[in-house]
Amino acid sequence: MERRDFFNSFGTAALVAGISGVAASCSKSSGTPSGGTTGGNALITADLSSELASIGSAKQGGGAILIRTGAGNTVSDFSALSLTCTHQGCTVAYDQSSSQFACPCHGSEFTSTGAVLQGPAATALAKFKITINGNTITVG
Ligand code: FES
Repeated sequence: MERRDFFNSFGTAALVAGISGVAASCSKSSGTPSGGTTGGNALITADLSSELASIGSAKQGGGAILIRTGAGNTVSDFSALSLTCTHQGCTVAYDQSSSQFACPCHGSEFTSTGAVLQGPAATALAKFKITINGNTITVG
């Protein structure tokens, strides 16, 4: 194999590996329902006496995230969202300091309640059901 052929084949292999990596990062999380419920399987459980104490704090699990958005301990003080971007399915990242989500694939941004701040995504992040029983909060 000549040097030029080697680099051509190496470049092709690297390109294929790169595309595979991007495709994998854009795939939907397994276990994340599109309808907002999990059929009884909790994605996240937290103890409100010791977790999620400050506004903006969050806990992730099962392709979902639970964020404290208010000071109380009622369902309306929390946001439970899918981490799957509504544009093309990449996993969004939550920044606790800004209380916003950013998608690494095409730059969409979402608020802590899932609303679109910046496209190309046109639809809010999917929401999950939140249940509070005593000090235990459950998502899904
Ligand atoms: S997949 Fe998130 S902006 Fe495109």
